[in-house]
Amino acid sequence: MEIAARLSEAGKEYKTGESTIVALQPTTTEFRTGEITLLVGPSGSGKTTLLSLLGSVIYPTMGKVWVGDTCVNDLSEKELAKLRLKHIGFVFQGFNLLAPLNALENVMEPLLLQGVSRKEAKRRAMKLIRQFGMEDRIYNLPRNLSGGQQQRIAIARSLITDPKLILCDEPTASLDHKSAKMVMEMLSQLSLDNRAVIVVTHDVRLKKYADRTIYVSEGRISETAIEDEF
Ligand SMILES: Nc1ncnc2c1ncn2[C@@H]1O[C@H](COP(=O)(O)OP(=O)(O)O)[C@@H](O)[C@H]1O
Ligand SMILES: [Mg+2]
Repeated sequence: MEIAARLSEAGKEYKTGESTIVALQPTTTEFRTGEITLLVGPSGSGKTTLLSLLGSVIYPTMGKVWVGDTCVNDLSEKELAKLRLKHIGFVFQGFNLLAPLNALENVMEPLLLQGVSRKEAKRRAMKLIRQFGMEDRIYNLPRNLSGGQQQRIAIARSLITDPKLILCDEPTASLDHKSAKMVMEMLSQLSLDNRAVIVVTHDVRLKKYADRTIYVSEGRISETAIEDEF
């Protein structure tokens, strides 16, 4: 196990006109490889803000954030983009596949952006696609795949650069029960493969797949349930 990401008194404020919203209070915690963590909490509680800090999509306005050994605070926007591409996999509710690209091309895309040759990108993408049992769908455009198949391709894309940190924002929210189960089993399997997997969700049924559950409420995290429904 290693530390894939870490927050040290890291928080985020948004200033809009006269008022300041504290989206995330100063927070200290770490995420290790080999673990899948659920982030649960009501809408507006700060879940996406926490995930965005870990994903190096935004800078903290307080404290520090590390991804692996790299302190995010010290990087330029351009360096952040590189860090994300190389070290972090993202999986979203809406799958976020590129509509004009087929399944294979979607999985290859992050490698092509890194300057890997088409031949090598294809070889590595096919290996993952085979592992996920999707080889008969490689030429399908996203709109010709089911929700569950699109999410499987999106997960393959998030893994193609072999990141240690996988961040998922409501990955099962658009899926039926059976596909949601399959996606959670895949994500849980990924954590066993020496990755830190962090999943934002409203769905309390997913708790059984998690090694750790973090409750977020009004910008504060806690590891003990605050609401009975969780
Ligand atoms: N870009 C932004 N500008 C201003 N306020 C924001 C912004 N992003 C989030 N917020 C505010 O921060 C709080 C936490 O939001 P968010 O992290 O998106 O919550 P959640 O994902 O749990 O629904 C909310 O009050 C939200 O309105
Ligand atoms: Mg959110």
